[in-house]
Amino acid sequence: MKLIGRILSMLVGLVLAAVVAVWFLSEQRLGKDHTADVSVDSSGIMVTSDSASVARGQYLAHSLLACTECHGSDFGGQMFVDSGAMGRIPATNLTSGKGGLGSSYSVEDWDRAIRHGVGRDGRGLFVMPSEAYVYLTDGEMSDLLSYLQTVPPVDREFAPRSFGPIGRMLAATGQPLFPVDRTEHDTSRPNTAPVIPGVERGKHLAKVSGCEACHGASLAGGKVAGADPSWPPAGNLTPHAEGLARYDLASFSKAVRTGAKVDGTQIDAKVMPWQSYSGLRDEELRSLWAYMNSLPATETPK
Ligand code: HEC
Ligand code: HEC
Repeated sequence: MKLIGRILSMLVGLVLAAVVAVWFLSEQRLGKDHTADVSVDSSGIMVTSDSASVARGQYLAHSLLACTECHGSDFGGQMFVDSGAMGRIPATNLTSGKGGLGSSYSVEDWDRAIRHGVGRDGRGLFVMPSEAYVYLTDGEMSDLLSYLQTVPPVDREFAPRSFGPIGRMLAATGQPLFPVDRTEHDTSRPNTAPVIPGVERGKHLAKVSGCEACHGASLAGGKVAGADPSWPPAGNLTPHAEGLARYDLASFSKAVRTGAKVDGTQIDAKVMPWQSYSGLRDEELRSLWAYMNSLPATETPK
């Protein structure tokens, strides 16, 4: 009896020590200030009230970049992750209403959050797809911010984010939890996005819209980086027999805009933002199709 008691209390001690270690390590990683890790150059971004720029920005925010998918169609934010295990993480209210970013948020603050995945307080932003947005040109950023400035204020307040045991465990074991860790911060990007329909334009669109972030740098698909483990693997978007060889431009466009795959099954809107992509233009889908078909046919990584 004594022996069992001793073993039990030892076990309890070990578990307690593990909990303390996870807590401590995760606090360190989750609370890390990333401000000094990224160099932000916003000098080429110009916010204007020019109506053409605002209209282009509106298109970017609602369709190509799918900001509304997470921040809500009114940009007032919503509870994005809401589970006891993972945590409670709101997608920020981006308006100047109560609980929103307010009017003191500078162009550089926007840039740091969008192209680098770092909040104004220095925290690594959860799921904010900066690994895709880092490729946005200064021109596109100018349009996007010019539009966001016109969005009406929404009063919606959230408690600050908090992480549950699974979220803390992931952080403590060094999983790449935040896009800031996966973003190519020092990328050289063109001054203006390629506008002529074709391969070069398709390549740019595949980067900024997030196809590459989910379908992989080679676009051969497989496990989505940083995603919930319950997600299906992303499809193969190279001309491989497992991939686009099964598609033509029309069925590809349909899959991207409606989530209907060529095998007759449906892509869950939670795993790919096709509701936003439904607004993509024919020319953009042609450019994406041309680019993806110019890639080497690559087997899906296991
Ligand atoms: C896949 C979901 C998702 C998409 C798409 C997304 N965001 Fe976010 N964003 C979030 C979440 C979640 C947070 C809060 C993260 C946190 O607190 O860790 C956030 C935070 C932010 C912040 C707050 C930074 C701060 O200082 O607190 C800004 C600004 C922002 N997003 C802008 C945008 C813009 C603009 C777009 C489109 C170009 C966009 N987001 C697209 C999920 C998303
Ligand atoms: C947030 C992650 C995410 C983004 C962003 C994303 N996808 Fe996907 N996509 C997926 C996942 C996951 C699947 C697999 C869904 C399934 O099989 O149910 C998929 C499936 C597909 C399919 C069907 C593949 C097949 O094998 O039939 C096509 C086509 C596709 N995506 C194209 C695109 C294009 C083009 C873009 C960029 C404009 C894009 N996706 C952006 C996650 C994403």
